Amino acid sequence: MLALETARLRLREMTPQDASALHAVWGNAKTMRWYPRALTPEEVDGWITRQMERYPSGTGLLAIVLKVTGEVIGDCGPVWQEIDGPTELEIGYHVRRDCWNRGFATEAAAAVRDYAFAELDCDHVISLIRPENLPSRRVAEKNGFTVNRMVFWREYDHCVYRLDKGAAR
Ligand SMILES: CC(C)(COP(=O)(O)OP(=O)(O)OC[C@H]1O[C@@H](n2cnc3c(N)ncnc32)[C@H](O)[C@@H]1OP(=O)(O)O)[C@@H](O)C(=O)NCCC(=O)NCCS
Repeated sequence: MLALETARLRLREMTPQDASALHAVWGNAKTMRWYPRALTPEEVDGWITRQMERYPSGTGLLAIVLKVTGEVIGDCGPVWQEIDGPTELEIGYHVRRDCWNRGFATEAAAAVRDYAFAELDCDHVISLIRPENLPSRRVAEKNGFTVNRMVFWREYDHCVYRLDKGAAR
């Protein structure tokens, strides 16, 4: 069972019971501003299923649980991506809007970064971020990532932020 813990957060495998909490994230148009569109409840169900299928390999986006209240406020986790060459491990993160700018994504992503380097077969990790997505870029930079290259991916330009294992703080 994949589970990580930080000072304020628990990251755990999501289940279908998390659907409405995660729809509050993925169904919000403002939160999904840098994605093609917000997801419907049915699409969130399918997205949760895809994460559950990844868990046996030690990857997949995990539910972010706020320890103090026990509520699910987002997701963060490692996912293998094929962009423009060999498969690379991406760290993704999404946080409910009313919880932004409290350091939660940075804290969660740091725990996933440390887990990936300790437990998964990767010499570097990446985050794919639209250039305009300044909060997400800031999260990556706070965790030691730097821009490695630009790619045109899923119909948009993306910065490929990268952190090599030896360079992790
Ligand atoms: C990106 C996201 C996960 C960040 O979550 P978060 O919990 O607010 O992140 P943190 O609080 O750890 O850090 C956010 C940083 O961005 C900064 N920031 C916020 N808005 C900003 C803006 N418009 N311009 C520049 N920096 C900004 C914050 O000040 C903070 O940096 P600081 O700690 O140096 O002050 C959240 O905004 C989100 O869910 N966005 C929608 C989904 C998404 O785009 N995910 C990433 C896909 S690549």
